[in-house]
Amino acid sequence: MPMIKVLPIDEIPEDSRKIIDVGKYKVLVIHSKGQFFAVDNHCPHMNLPLKNGKITEDHAIVCPFHRSAFDLETGDVKEWSPWPPVMGKALGAIAREKALPIFETMEKDGWLWIADKPGE
Ligand code: FES
Repeated sequence: MPMIKVLPIDEIPEDSRKIIDVGKYKVLVIHSKGQFFAVDNHCPHMNLPLKNGKITEDHAIVCPFHRSAFDLETGDVKEWSPWPPVMGKALGAIAREKALPIFETMEKDGWLWIADKPGE
């Protein structure tokens, strides 16, 4: 998969995040526990931004809106719209469960590289 050189590693210190335009995607890059993750900034539930989502101990991102949770490495759904109680379940039925698109990352010569599109 073609990779794009996006930013110097020292511009994204530990525990920070940035939005980067990669083609038609807004990619959310996260530096957490020594690892870089790159995911679509749009939550697959209702397309709302994930940028301020909480990162859990087991490397998931939790959407700030209805708290769907996605594995940062695989994009797999860990929870689907559990919030708010009762309403969340109804809102979850609006869209079928869908994984979060994930972009491959690579560090080279002090720069972070990101795949030009999400993996399959
Ligand atoms: S928009 Fe993310 S869980 Fe609903």
